[in-house]
Amino acid sequence: MTTNESTPHHLLFIDDETELRTLTAERLRECGFEVSEADSGEAALELLDQFAFDILITDLRLPGIDGAAVVEAAVARYPSIVALVITGYGTVKDAVDAIKRGASDFIAKPFQFDELMHHLQRALEQSRLSAENAYLRSQLEERHQFSGIIGRSRPMQALFQMLDTVARSSSTILVTGETGTGKEVVARAIHHNSPRRSHRFVALNCSAIPETLLEAELFGHVRGAFTGAAGTRQGRFEQAHQGTLLLDEVGTMSVGLQMKVLRALQEREFERVGDNRTIKVDVRVIAATNSDLLGMVADGTFREDLYYRLNVIPLALPPLRERRDDIPILVTHFLEKFTPGGTVRVAQSAMRVLMAYQWPGNVRQLENAIERAVALGGGREEIDVADLPPELLTEQPTSPTASADLPEAGLDLPAHLASIERDLVYRALDRTGGNRNRAADLLCIKRTTLVEKLRRIGAPS
Ligand SMILES: Nc1ncnc2c1ncn2[C@@H]1O[C@H](COP(=O)(O)OP(=O)(O)OP(=O)(O)O)[C@@H](O)[C@H]1O
Ligand SMILES: [Mg+2]
Repeated sequence: MTTNESTPHHLLFIDDETELRTLTAERLRECGFEVSEADSGEAALELLDQFAFDILITDLRLPGIDGAAVVEAAVARYPSIVALVITGYGTVKDAVDAIKRGASDFIAKPFQFDELMHHLQRALEQSRLSAENAYLRSQLEERHQFSGIIGRSRPMQALFQMLDTVARSSSTILVTGETGTGKEVVARAIHHNSPRRSHRFVALNCSAIPETLLEAELFGHVRGAFTGAAGTRQGRFEQAHQGTLLLDEVGTMSVGLQMKVLRALQEREFERVGDNRTIKVDVRVIAATNSDLLGMVADGTFREDLYYRLNVIPLALPPLRERRDDIPILVTHFLEKFTPGGTVRVAQSAMRVLMAYQWPGNVRQLENAIERAVALGGGREEIDVADLPPELLTEQPTSPTASADLPEAGLDLPAHLASIERDLVYRALDRTGGNRNRAADLLCIKRTTLVEKLRRIGAPS
């Protein structure tokens, strides 16, 4: 029998009986092991200091330092070393002690060489399996999450691989996906895995800031640049110097401002509002959107050149309904988030509902549903179907047909759309008893977007 590894195992054989030791060592060498010999515990420790060993075989009874102590010292130094002990008459109890101290197995004296080899091969096989298991476990753990992004489905695994690579570059990234699919978590994960991680991650939601103030928000302003500009202020581009800037909901920016952003991206320079001094920055830009930017390019509301400047690396996040196998681990993740240290489970019937639902609001909607269920559960150990938001239980609404009559005299489209929007926002709030989180879920928008719409509509807050 020989070892079939390309590099031979380095083996330390310790026994004070010279003849037994030299004979056994010789036969081990014939089997392909690289063997060092020691005739005492002290000599063994000295060798362990100088060389790395994969295998250690030692007699238990040695003059001076005994075999069990050698095993313990070897395991402390090389945790994956395979250690076997040889026991003489009456030392079986000591063998048990040696195993406690890290030996894999023991062989009773006198032994046949084949017997020794049998024990050795078995111990090596076990060690190989446990190393493999540890490796697989670490692989598995890695695949189910990437810097706080949870996912085990195929599309998410592909995304994790992609993130690993793109994080290392400074290329501009365009993250697309429906609301709540995790565009912002992905942008943060990219920053935290990039060489820029020790600098700032600055996020700006372009839709949350009135158009008139957005330019100053992006590029900064000097005192008196516009009414209300009391002092000089840095913009987000400057704040993100050497770091990462997330331009969230980039599709909502006016065409005029798109032009200025394009220049900042191309030249990495800009001026603060009201100033003519040019400022240079080193910023990695990640843009995110849930609008159809290409469609907007086609109808002229988004600049084509900016689109291509942003879309250097496209990352499209799949909606949750297209990766339902992520639902159970996301549920576990959110249960842990909302009941830290708790033992709340989801009943099978409730899990079936969660798995079947369409999730128009994606992961955010799922997160809200679990938070609500935990609150309604009031400390109960199991979440029931009754704890889930009612919209999960009703038939999926099909998308209402987008058709309306066009009056002979035409209509004011923006005003008309605004009135439909106002109507739907109020209906959603009515249906959810004024709960803004759930109303936003019903409309597949973020809570902050809903609040912004309410503010625009002039609703009392
Ligand atoms: N894969 C995921 N793992 C864990 N949490 C997630 C995941 N995806 C999203 N979330 C959580 O869901 C919520 C929404 O995520 P995020 O804000 O990144 O979505 P978004 O795509 O930016 O949505 P929007 O288009 O509405 O801005 C956050 O609380 C986030 O932590
Ligand atoms: Mg977002």
